[in-house]
Amino acid sequence: MSKDNLLNLLEAEAGKYVSGEEISQKLQVSRTAVWKKIRKLTSEGYIIEAVPRLGYRLSGKPSHLSVHELLPKLNTKSFGRALHLLDVVPSTQDEVRRLADQGAAEGTLVIAEQQTKGRGRMGRSWASPKGKGIWMSLLLRPPVPLPLTPQLTLLAAVALSRGISRLVPITIGIKWPNDLLVNGKKISGILLESAAEDERLRYVIVGMGISVNLDPEDYPEELLEKAISLKMASGAVIDRSELIAVILEEFERLYALYLEQGFAPIRSLWEAHSVTLNNHTVLNTPQGQVQGIPRELDDMGGLRIELEDGSFKTIYSAVIDS
Ligand code: BTN
Repeated sequence: MSKDNLLNLLEAEAGKYVSGEEISQKLQVSRTAVWKKIRKLTSEGYIIEAVPRLGYRLSGKPSHLSVHELLPKLNTKSFGRALHLLDVVPSTQDEVRRLADQGAAEGTLVIAEQQTKGRGRMGRSWASPKGKGIWMSLLLRPPVPLPLTPQLTLLAAVALSRGISRLVPITIGIKWPNDLLVNGKKISGILLESAAEDERLRYVIVGMGISVNLDPEDYPEELLEKAISLKMASGAVIDRSELIAVILEEFERLYALYLEQGFAPIRSLWEAHSVTLNNHTVLNTPQGQVQGIPRELDDMGGLRIELEDGSFKTIYSAVIDS
């Protein structure tokens, strides 16, 4: 008997007591073996009530992610099928890079409960407290020219936004290029890193950080003005495995659409979710500050800004502060 069989049996009874006798008959094992497995599950954080003459009842699950919980929820062909669930790592980006260099398949996913050196865009750090968020990196091997990789950043933002909206009743806006905001506060960030050889794209690592069940005390005070978690925004604790599953499903679907039809449909979806378009914006680019009104995306994924004199400038890399 594996502990998964026992867990499936208790879960199938949905909160009802199952006697030790019934378990041992159904799983064809001794009562002692049942007891040992129950102890193993409780040591992993499952809450199992044991009542004489009634039996066992599953009344709580560990708050950490488990492959057992996640895999049955996945509704994808390749995304997340090679799944590495880790406890503490410096950054999931580095884990995926190592796997990619060893030939890992597209869709390989690394998730960590905690990152000690999580990183964000523009060399910033990314706080990743234990068990509270989704800190994950996905490997893609897109057959596209290197200069088009920014399009995948925008695609990732749409996928996350659609995935979250399926589970959590909140309105999400995308700030260019890929910050997800709720009421102007950031709930998620995406970091795209790529590897190329002789100007040819080898792979892309899409790093996704989603503040799921963080509480106000998990944030440094100065960040509370700018950041929020899904739990704080919606008032409910969110099941992280379910959220990962719907995000991967949306991501895989949009990625297939992109490979088939190109950037145009992604661009329209991004524009529909954007909170940057048509609002006066200050952009800090590597070449200096640019101010104006972003009007649309260009074919590569750059942002077309209408300047004060009516001319247009396209920006490919910038930080927007507010
Ligand atoms: C940003 O908004 O600046 C991007 C943040 C990206 C954070 C994620 S968490 C998982 C992955 N691992 C990292 O070190 N960073 C990304």
